Amino acid sequence: MKTVTLIPGDGIGPEIASAVRTVFDALQVPVAFEEVHAGAAVFEKEGAYIPESVYESLEANRIALKGPITTPIGHGFRSLNVQLRKKYDLYQNIRPIKPAAKLPLKFDDVDMVLFRENTEDLYAGVEEVISDDEAHSIKIITAGKSRRIVKAAFDYATKFGRESVAVVTKANIMKATDGLFLRIAREVAEDYDIPLREILVDNMAMQMVMHPAQFDVVVTENLYGDILSDLGAGLIGGLGMIPGVNKGHDMAIYEAVHGSAPDIANKGIANPTALLLSACMLLEDIGERDAAERIRTAIHDVLSDPATRTRDLGGTLTTVEYIDALLQRL
Ligand code: NAI
Repeated sequence: MKTVTLIPGDGIGPEIASAVRTVFDALQVPVAFEEVHAGAAVFEKEGAYIPESVYESLEANRIALKGPITTPIGHGFRSLNVQLRKKYDLYQNIRPIKPAAKLPLKFDDVDMVLFRENTEDLYAGVEEVISDDEAHSIKIITAGKSRRIVKAAFDYATKFGRESVAVVTKANIMKATDGLFLRIAREVAEDYDIPLREILVDNMAMQMVMHPAQFDVVVTENLYGDILSDLGAGLIGGLGMIPGVNKGHDMAIYEAVHGSAPDIANKGIANPTALLLSACMLLEDIGERDAAERIRTAIHDVLSDPATRTRDLGGTLTTVEYIDALLQRL
């Protein structure tokens, strides 16, 4: 039995976390969830956004499944997600972009894996208000942190027999920062047999919309990775469909790409697939490949049928009805 920290999070987080629990229980997956709470709701009760119990559980288990956490937009405290990623140096944000079912999509052959640097860039939080009319944000790129994420992307491409790694930057304009990231990518690529493709982020956005199947493994900086993965979500059915993981040397936090979706929270209509697919990535990483495959197959079969789709996919099922359909399929 593997103990895994479960942080349900805010907004739709508790609804989709409970959906994962139900599926794991039904399959008798050898995972024991240790549930701890972080986020806006906890702050109201305990006066801390990330109570000590969360750190203790993460440090003991080193592996977690996390729901989304609300961050105030344009004011207020720093993102708790960014804080956790920085504190535990979870430098790889891996987001596979591949349809999980036969859906009415423009492209059904998208199969890319995005490696996003997760600890620096404009997310370093070095911002300065100069005056009421002027504010600065410092973009930080270092050779060491660029090297380790590019290496992670190439190691993954090697392990899974992928054909190319594309590095995405805006090195024509930000010659110092993005130029450094690109230079390091070129250096790392010399140690591998897999070709490195170089592409500017604006062209990347257009190519992903027009010809997404040309991309295999993609590696990029923090902000571009964040934006391109939401774009990728749009290619495969939306934010309810795209999983991810934040990985460091000795800790991994699995989470969906989407946020707390306050517009649909507590309505029972959230699509739990993205968190379920994140949980499948977790299962694979702890050696439970069969369980992961069974859940993926059930998701594929249920969502490929227009009669059993959630609302974000054009269907009518609530979260609970969808989970029931999955359980029947399982
Ligand atoms: P969001 O991802 O929460 O929602 C964007 C749109 O997608 C909304 O219309 C929402 O209803 C829909 N959506 C998202 N997930 C869905 C699901 N599972 N099923 C059905 N529909 C879904 O992004 P938004 O609104 O920009 O951010 C809301 C909050 O979430 C903010 O406080 C933000 O900081 C936070 N956030 C947290 C993240 C995390 O904890 N890792 C990641 C992204 C945002």
